[in-house]
Amino acid sequence: MSGAKKVYIRTFGCQMNEYDSDKMADVLRAAEGYEPTDDVEQADLVLFNTCSVREKAQEKVFSDLGRVKHLKAKGVLIGVGGCVASQEGAAIVERAPYVDLVFGPQTLHRLPQMIAARHAEQRPQIDIRFPEIEKFDHLPPARVQGASAYVSIMEGCSKYCSYCVVPYTRGEEVHRPLDDVLAEVAGLAAQGVKEVTLLGQNVNAYRGHWPQAEPGPDSDDDEAIADFALLIEAVSEIAGIERIRYTTSHPNEFTQRLIDVYARVPKLVSHLHLPVQHGSDRILMAMKRGYTAMEYKSTIRKLRAVRPNLSLSSDFIVGFPGETEDDFGRTMKLIDDVGYDASFSFVFSPRPGTPAAALADDTPAALKLQRLQLLQARIEENVRRISASRVGTVQRILVEGPSRHADKAARAGNLNLGASELMGRTECNRIVNFDGGPNAARLVGQMIDVTITEALPHSLRGEPVAAERVSGPARSPATTA
Ligand code: SAM
Ligand code: SF4
Ligand code: F3S
Repeated sequence: MSGAKKVYIRTFGCQMNEYDSDKMADVLRAAEGYEPTDDVEQADLVLFNTCSVREKAQEKVFSDLGRVKHLKAKGVLIGVGGCVASQEGAAIVERAPYVDLVFGPQTLHRLPQMIAARHAEQRPQIDIRFPEIEKFDHLPPARVQGASAYVSIMEGCSKYCSYCVVPYTRGEEVHRPLDDVLAEVAGLAAQGVKEVTLLGQNVNAYRGHWPQAEPGPDSDDDEAIADFALLIEAVSEIAGIERIRYTTSHPNEFTQRLIDVYARVPKLVSHLHLPVQHGSDRILMAMKRGYTAMEYKSTIRKLRAVRPNLSLSSDFIVGFPGETEDDFGRTMKLIDDVGYDASFSFVFSPRPGTPAAALADDTPAALKLQRLQLLQARIEENVRRISASRVGTVQRILVEGPSRHADKAARAGNLNLGASELMGRTECNRIVNFDGGPNAARLVGQMIDVTITEALPHSLRGEPVAAERVSGPARSPATTA
């Protein structure tokens, strides 16, 4: 191996893990000069950033580890981070003794020190503590790729839904100070980022410290607390930021102040991922979600009153212990009532240490699977209907780069095929493929208006409106998808 050291990072799980994987690459580049590689055979360091939200995800880690074990003969280091690392700790090294590093989501910034200790002590290093948000104080400035970026505003979760492992793997909620988040967004905007996604397990529970310029006369307290509504407004005022997304929010923390922000801040997209999990109040209570289906729908009604074109997505769990046909029917009814766009759905997976894992569960696995398929087919019908309704409308998209088709052709060495074929995303995260024409390269990273010409199963096809084709990005507002 010659030149810069190389790190191969494989990411499982949610956007929080994707964000953390980028941070691992940043830390390793800044401290050790590692460059990322997609080819595991070229790597000096192999990292798995793992997920334990369901059993299958967890088991995948061990089968993948087995596949890279042979690299040890070349002196390659192997590390396991993320939620499985956090949950299993030293047990990972017991099961896979060739693993050199085990680190949690809150200790990834210590990777360089752990690597040095691994070499000095010649034994595996394990650090899965939750040091109070120390991570963000030790991360180097992000290297921006493209016009869209994630910004973590909080870590962990304190909701303890009865089925979920996250509070145990990521720790209790810790919120970043308002100024830190705003400084990170401003830094990204200065590097050309136009769209930020604010990240956390419960972003609307955000309570960030906020230094007060003028403490009140009766108070010597020079700090106030900013809520999520205030954070969004502050982000929307940062020059260069044109679109704000967030994930994930919790129905219980959906305050009137946050609903009002939808009326005031057009940069906040008309798409909301608001996981309901289930449509039966009995099951919602057993899940410890803290709301009823009626309360959830009431929040949606209020939101749609201020944003009539809001599109919604959700997560659903099918086959929670004790789920009857009637309970399942209530989830299907909720899907019809709300009209969800693309959503995620899963069969309940008992997670060790969570209260739901101990509940009696007599629903046969085959029936759970059948329910999952019914639910997914219903959502898919909605997705197709919503996509078809976009044909003929003008949508504002953020152009990300070559379409998947063009990218594949370029990787295969066919540089001419579809060279002007680009892709972008609408507000509601639909992929739009289009021909960028002779100006294609100039359109990447820009917000442009396209007329939707065709709805395909997993994407839309569009055409830039005339002004964009001739002179590049226009400024006119468009209908939101
Ligand atoms: N914080 C978010 C929320 O409250 O909706 C989601 C977090 S979780 C990482 C992502 C999704 O995984 C959940 O919304 C839920 O649908 C699913 N999930 C979590 N635990 C699960 C389990 N034990 N079995 C099946 N699905 C699960
Ligand atoms: Fe898990 Fe519930 Fe927290 Fe979401 S809110 S991460 S489902 S415990
Ligand atoms: Fe998985 Fe951990 Fe995310 S369990 S879904 S990687 S918070």
